[in-house]
Amino acid sequence: MTARPPSDPLVRLRDVADRTQLVETTSAADSNAVYEGLRQRWGSAAPVDLEPGVPAWLVLGHAAAVGVLRDDRTFIKDPSIWRGHDEGLLGPQSALHLVLSRQPKPTLFDADGAKHARLRPPVDDALDRIDEARAAAITRRLCGKLIDRFEDRGRADLVAEYAAVVPFLVMSELDGLEPGQAQRLQEITRAIFEAGADARALTDELKEIVSGHITHSRAHGTRDIAGMLAVHGSFHDDTERAQTLTAITAAATESLLALVAQTLALILRDPRFSGRVSGGRLHIDDVLDEVLWRSTTNPNLMPRFAVHDVTIGDKLVERGEAVVVAVHAANHDPLVHAADPWETVGNRAYLSFGAGAHRCPAPRLGRVIARIAVTELLHRLQVTLDGDPDQVEWATSPWMRFPARLPVTFASPREVPRPAAWPPGTTAVSP
Ligand code: HEM
Repeated sequence: MTARPPSDPLVRLRDVADRTQLVETTSAADSNAVYEGLRQRWGSAAPVDLEPGVPAWLVLGHAAAVGVLRDDRTFIKDPSIWRGHDEGLLGPQSALHLVLSRQPKPTLFDADGAKHARLRPPVDDALDRIDEARAAAITRRLCGKLIDRFEDRGRADLVAEYAAVVPFLVMSELDGLEPGQAQRLQEITRAIFEAGADARALTDELKEIVSGHITHSRAHGTRDIAGMLAVHGSFHDDTERAQTLTAITAAATESLLALVAQTLALILRDPRFSGRVSGGRLHIDDVLDEVLWRSTTNPNLMPRFAVHDVTIGDKLVERGEAVVVAVHAANHDPLVHAADPWETVGNRAYLSFGAGAHRCPAPRLGRVIARIAVTELLHRLQVTLDGDPDQVEWATSPWMRFPARLPVTFASPREVPRPAAWPPGTTAVSP
């Protein structure tokens, strides 16, 4: 990225009329084809619409993506400088109000500079102190209980009944919440997203439960995530602590949902993977890497905003414009990607956990939880995907990619002889 050279013919965002809708990149059956089409037409940065009429730059090249993520003085997360506010681009029904609102956002996700540098260390400290073996044991136990619920039925939707539930249950226990509190928080979170719900009252109840939990954790000196945040001196007050606990849980549950669902989908849909995994030639960890390389869970990161005019290649990013890093496209950049697909096995140089100041603080913990969730399911049940494996319907979020549903049937374990360990050749799932 360089300062703007005065005489170069640069492409301006607002001069491009036919901008691709961002959601096409995540919900298309072949999302890679959409990104590659944009790369071929535009190079390392493409003009897109976050929703119709709301333009942004989509950064496709690996070097440019890393440049944006690491240069957090030029590309900040505070949407109050977004120029679309002055142009009145957001209609009242826009789904982007949460993302682009001028209202100050309280968590580390949207904090820049000194504020982020103050809010991030407690998160790193709390997550670094989680014992991975304990997290693994919790995940295994909770997965077992969930599978018990649908095992006898012989069918399930592995997204709604498993991938969407495991991360929340595990994070709630790591947060130190009682099962009753966790269940209420889950109900509230769901209701907040449902149309017609009284979001204000529900948000107040959510804040009350989490704040009460912080106070309780400090009083009892607990050694869970809430207990660590409760005594950390970086925060100004307990409101910041409660907001941080909620932010960690939300970040973990969304990304883990997508990683567990995508990994199960890859194994169930693609005979090359199921064959290699069941034959013991491919570890679940390698399948997680395959997802994180090729069809990453967070393909488009939340926007950054340029604090001054800069160029990315021949594109002029003007002050206040939104810039979205396309992790999927960066991972597939021909300049960094191995030509042989199997060369990526064991190689973790992807951008799937981000980079720079806002990089994910929990890649190891995330992998432990996802690996055990996938392994436990495949260990317990012999699962077959219902319907045509090529007809998976993808969730319609412009930021995340995961199957909307994974309807499966399975033979009851009383009818089907199960291998002693899954995949064969492993006796235990290492944390
Ligand atoms: C395993 C799947 C996961 C993936 C693929 C993932 C991916 C990411 C990515 C790409 C970012 C950077 C976002 C950005 O720069 O805009 C991020 C940030 C974050 N992740 Fe994760 N994550 C995962 C699991 C987790 C877990 C298990 C936790 C917590 C226990 C977590 C907590 C966070 C938090 C708090 C941030 C914000 C950091 C900041 O803004 O400084 N993530 N994650």
